[in-house]
Amino acid sequence: MRARQIRPNVYWVGAIDWDRRLFDALIPLPDGTSYNAYLVKGTRKVALIDTVDPSMTHVLMSYLQDVPDVHYVIANHAEQDHSGSIPQVLAKYPNAKLVTTPKGKDLLMALLLIPPDRFVTVNDGETLSLGDKTLEFIYAPWVHWPETMLTYLREDKILFPCDLFGSHLATSDLYVSDEGQLYEAAKRYFAEIMMPFRTSIEKHLERLNSYEIAVIAPSHGPVHNKPSFILAAYRSWVFDPPRNIVVVPYISMHGSTQRMVEYFVGALADRGVVAKQFNLAAVDIGKLAMALVDAATLVIGTPTVLVGPHPNVVYAAFLTNALRPKIQFVSVIGSYGWGSKAVEQLTAMIPNIKAEILPPVISKGFPRQEDFNSLDSLANIIAAKHKERGFA
Ligand code: FEO
Repeated sequence: MRARQIRPNVYWVGAIDWDRRLFDALIPLPDGTSYNAYLVKGTRKVALIDTVDPSMTHVLMSYLQDVPDVHYVIANHAEQDHSGSIPQVLAKYPNAKLVTTPKGKDLLMALLLIPPDRFVTVNDGETLSLGDKTLEFIYAPWVHWPETMLTYLREDKILFPCDLFGSHLATSDLYVSDEGQLYEAAKRYFAEIMMPFRTSIEKHLERLNSYEIAVIAPSHGPVHNKPSFILAAYRSWVFDPPRNIVVVPYISMHGSTQRMVEYFVGALADRGVVAKQFNLAAVDIGKLAMALVDAATLVIGTPTVLVGPHPNVVYAAFLTNALRPKIQFVSVIGSYGWGSKAVEQLTAMIPNIKAEILPPVISKGFPRQEDFNSLDSLANIIAAKHKERGFA
């Protein structure tokens, strides 16, 4: 593939990773991903914005084969999927300077053992002239690490936000061609990577309102040549109140909790509440994370294992706590044989979720009519709470 022109003298020089199926040894990538780097050629200087994952350095280096000089390598973010090829680029261009935030310098020195004399650190709002093109650096801590910054190419009105507005989506299309597919991939990405930093992103979105943006060129997934689509999606995910949705991650060993979850999900549907059921025995954790973006309530279903919740449920609770969704209400349903501390243990595992705990429903053995009545009551409470708060 050739370098792909976005604007005169601005090129995509990234790598498409069709086969990658796991990120950070944790996050499923059903649609692969890409590591996007961009070459900006000014009349006086040339800058490379971000690099690619070390597994695909050879792809980036093939684009740079006929580029005699790169004066600046811009590191928006130190995570290795973008920074991992910097050492090879700096080796090819011995006079190039690595431009990043002071925190970025600290991290890049630690992660990639880059010597301090290769760096130029920039302040928030500082600019770098390439001649007829000007790069402006916008600090954006916590998208996705504390050192992150965005780069704005003033003359062409292109925002290079690295992870922000990205999507794990391998495609040969330079620009977004299927908004439905992009929405799904970008929401999954937001849920898994960005949701924990929602309050930081709020401030960054507000700040970006003062920039005229014609193109958003993230470092994963296709380029947004109609940026209003992804900006509107992010505003909705970040600012909108939660919706009339209950997420029910659960597991069942001998069918009791399964029966309770099935009954409860039906009871919610009967009351006009949307329920999303996820069996944790074979879940795509990304789908669960996506459902948490909009949900108002979390109801965890668990049997009792050694007096506590099932380990798969512990994992889901830990992950949900880490992702910090907008959840307002939490409950637990499930079963036990001779004794259970599952409710106490699970609710203690989600301190980041500032939610009201609703009455749990725990059945001794297989659920009986009184348990189904309790599930109806819980569904009534949730429907009433959602209505009272205006969650639609
Ligand atoms: Fe795509 Fe936080 O790295």
